[in-house]
Amino acid sequence: MVELIDITFEYNENKQIFLNTSFKATNGRLHIILGRSGSGKTTFLDIAFGFLKPKKGYVFFDGEEVREPISSKAIYLVSDPERYFFEKTVLEEASYPLIFKGFNRDEAKAITKEYLLRSGLPEEYLFRDPLTLSKGEKRRVALVSSVLLGSQAIFLDEPMSGLDRNGKEVVLNWLRSILNQGKVVLITSQKLDDFFELKPLVYIINNSKLVEVDLSSALSAYRVFKESGILPPERITIGAILENKGLKVDLFTSDKEFSEQVARVLVDYAY
Ligand SMILES: Nc1ncnc2c1ncn2[C@@H]1O[C@H](COP(=O)(O)OP(=O)(O)O)[C@@H](O)[C@H]1O
Ligand SMILES: [Mg+2]
Repeated sequence: MVELIDITFEYNENKQIFLNTSFKATNGRLHIILGRSGSGKTTFLDIAFGFLKPKKGYVFFDGEEVREPISSKAIYLVSDPERYFFEKTVLEEASYPLIFKGFNRDEAKAITKEYLLRSGLPEEYLFRDPLTLSKGEKRRVALVSSVLLGSQAIFLDEPMSGLDRNGKEVVLNWLRSILNQGKVVLITSQKLDDFFELKPLVYIINNSKLVEVDLSSALSAYRVFKESGILPPERITIGAILENKGLKVDLFTSDKEFSEQVARVLVDYAY
């Protein structure tokens, strides 16, 4: 439903950000765009969402060409959502999608309140100025707004940055539930480590291209990371070393299961 065809993009002529790049998203899967700082991750989301127009190529959403921001069809959570907070209280801020959809203010606030409390925000926070919240709390408010808008596609720019373990767990659970609803999820990240359990489809921006990483082989994934100048996640390095010895491990598990698996494989190998 999100498709980029043969995109070329540059902000100015001396630096090409994308060159003849194509991408197609799959429903119910998590797509992760990795890349070094300045490689074009945010630009990629901006193009897919219709904030930026490619110099060449086409962007489609649900079979229709994207010519302007698809704000009524998809949610785009920028890396610093506070840029977009404009209401005086958290509750008013998070209710705007429902008001936008035609609910009256009181109904919208009642429903939104439920969601905010369920997201783990204490009740007294609902009447605070959203700008006074911590980074993780702000992101929770933005996530609730995005859930309420009920869109089919979700774009998140570096959703884990600046979050502690707890905050990351909230984001992971939320991602899991929207993936189960069959939505398309596109995120950018500097690191892959937090996302293995969600069986992501992984892409790396390298040399103005988007390279898909085949995670069915840790060894081949390791090579793609190396070629792109990005430090491979520890799990892929371990998987590659084992694969080199003819041993296979499943990369898509929790940290705990992964360690147990490695231990098992090594014990079997040793004896
Ligand atoms: N509005 C802009 N005008 C000119 N150059 C830009 C603009 N926005 C981003 N860039 C440049 O484009 C490149 C990609 O930026 P960006 O997509 O923000 O990278 P990332 O999100 O991967 O850090 C960077 O070199 C950045 O400096
Ligand atoms: Mg960025």
